[in-house]
Amino acid sequence: MIGCGALGRAIAKLVDAGRAGDTKILAVFDRNREKAYKLAEELSEKPKVVESVDDLLKMPEVDVVVEAASQEAVKQYARKVVDSGKNLVVLSVGALLDAELLKQLVELAKKRGKKVLIPSGAVAGVDGISSASIGEVKEILLVTHKSPKSLGEEAEEVEEPKVLFEGDALEAVKRFPRGLNVAATISLAGIGAEKTRVRVVLDPSVERTVHEIFVKGEFGELYIKASNVPTPENPRSSYLAALSVASLLKRLSQEVVVGA
Ligand SMILES: NC(=O)c1ccc[n+]([C@@H]2O[C@H](COP(=O)([O-])OP(=O)(O)OC[C@H]3O[C@@H](n4cnc5c(N)ncnc54)[C@H](O)[C@@H]3O)[C@@H](O)[C@H]2O)c1
Repeated sequence: MIGCGALGRAIAKLVDAGRAGDTKILAVFDRNREKAYKLAEELSEKPKVVESVDDLLKMPEVDVVVEAASQEAVKQYARKVVDSGKNLVVLSVGALLDAELLKQLVELAKKRGKKVLIPSGAVAGVDGISSASIGEVKEILLVTHKSPKSLGEEAEEVEEPKVLFEGDALEAVKRFPRGLNVAATISLAGIGAEKTRVRVVLDPSVERTVHEIFVKGEFGELYIKASNVPTPENPRSSYLAALSVASLLKRLSQEVVVGA
């Protein structure tokens, strides 16, 4: 595990409670060492606290590295993780909209016979978007309603819902690098970031972050709504994102995989 913040902790606790199949957390890393030690201390099966990602990659028993840190961490470590022969789960998906980085990861994954896995994160229906995109897709629109709390210091005081952003997913992820990874996930599953439209609404009437996805295509139409409870430690990050990683890890250890 790289990153022992809100999501890293929530994922580790789900794994520790046996909710991610046979997966075990063998090692944790955070640039803030205290967070890594604190998390390791709280787990019943104590992982090793490593001092660097290089130390983590030297452990032959590690099959999968989960990034739950930041876009910067993906830029720093993703290539070396895959090149070391480990599978990589990426949560800071916005980083993968860098076409050059994505291309390099694809090449390394091919060379090493490994995978870069992107969980559905804070949304649902990514399977449907992937399926739809095998055929012709006319339109994908993500409408995200954010509470003032989830925007933190970026929030302005409003009494009515206010559209903060309208544009493509590439711009959306630049504007909200920490809070709109789902726009990147949907883009990569579907028709690309330049064709995926995004609207972000600051909504004082919501407590939760609400993501609505509208897809139109050859298959018909799809509408998905996720109304997300935040993680206890970070109001920007949805608990569903942690659950989606536990579910992905569980599916990796299962013989029969549903909704793959
Ligand atoms: N895919 C999704 O749907 C989804 C949903 C929510 C959050 N996220 C993303 O997941 C990531 C983690 O979210 P969080 O709520 O746990 O954040 P957080 O701020 O609570 O925790 C991040 C942790 O990672 C560590 N970290 C950051 N950069 C690092 C680096 N370069 N090297 C080592 N450690 C580093 C920090 O010290 C911190 O402890 C964020 O990038 C967030 O945007 C994705």
